[in-house]
Amino acid sequence: MSGSDWYRASAPGKFVILGEHAVVYGKPAIVLAVDLRMTIAVRGSRFNTINGERIDFRRQPHLRYLTRNVTSGLEFETKSQIPVGSGLGSSAALSAALALALSEKENRHMTENDLVEEAYEAELYAQGIGSPMDASACVHGGGIAVNLPEASDRHLWTVTRGERTWSVSDVDVPDMTFVIGNTGIKAPTGPLVSKVKRFLDRSSFAVDIVDDIEQVTLQGNDAIARGDVEQLGRLMTEDHKLLSILGVSSNELNKLVNASMPYSYGAKLTGAGGGGCMVALTDQPEKVCEAIRSRGGTPYVVRTGVPGAMLHP
Ligand code: MEV
Repeated sequence: MSGSDWYRASAPGKFVILGEHAVVYGKPAIVLAVDLRMTIAVRGSRFNTINGERIDFRRQPHLRYLTRNVTSGLEFETKSQIPVGSGLGSSAALSAALALALSEKENRHMTENDLVEEAYEAELYAQGIGSPMDASACVHGGGIAVNLPEASDRHLWTVTRGERTWSVSDVDVPDMTFVIGNTGIKAPTGPLVSKVKRFLDRSSFAVDIVDDIEQVTLQGNDAIARGDVEQLGRLMTEDHKLLSILGVSSNELNKLVNASMPYSYGAKLTGAGGGGCMVALTDQPEKVCEAIRSRGGTPYVVRTGVPGAMLHP
């Protein structure tokens, strides 16, 4: 990725402490950006290529949406530390970084809010359903809260689609240690979000579960404010149970969650579920990593408090 005609940007992945899936229905969520980044470079070219291979944008919906106004060919180079289809926001990070790199190439200034709208539309174009939570976390970095009234004095932006509104605020990144465990099983977000929607459409029981996730998230926000790791851990484990009832956990996720529990305050799947990653809150990260490895998962002791989407020379 060198040369002066390239326009380059990166964005972080993220994990959800509490509130995934329920956030699609306007419920609260708390998310942290992590030190796994997606970097993309773009320049004009005769043909559309990505990492040296010809590409057909029709098969790459995020790229197709984000380049909808570009009339020339484009060459892309990507480097990612974020595992794909793992609940860590790889597609939102790609969309945020690409939207920023293209705006620089075209000399258009975009605010963070503009980038969120653009990355969120790319996500909706690709998967049809979802919230602007991942796009917000990958654009802003640090920590964000969605629809948490207490955080409104640090309001960043509000995103509205149809009857749903998501008010996004900046929050302090808690000084706590989180270990992510990747099952290695790829699970695209769209079908999992649609599965939950079908459940909600036909069952008031599922609606109650989403309301319970809301309560757990609100209590978790208070626990974070008090620095109460024990209570936050309990709530994360409770959230995992609620997400399992919604049908988005898997045997592999449950295995990694259960293996982490003896060394953690709590653990849960993170992101869309179905495979992908879980996260444990712990003060024994090495032990949790070992437990995750012993069950066939890949652990990452993630660093938080990282910057959002940014340009690179
Ligand atoms: C995926 O990271 C989070 C979900 O809540 C979907 C969304 O908010 O778009 C499952």
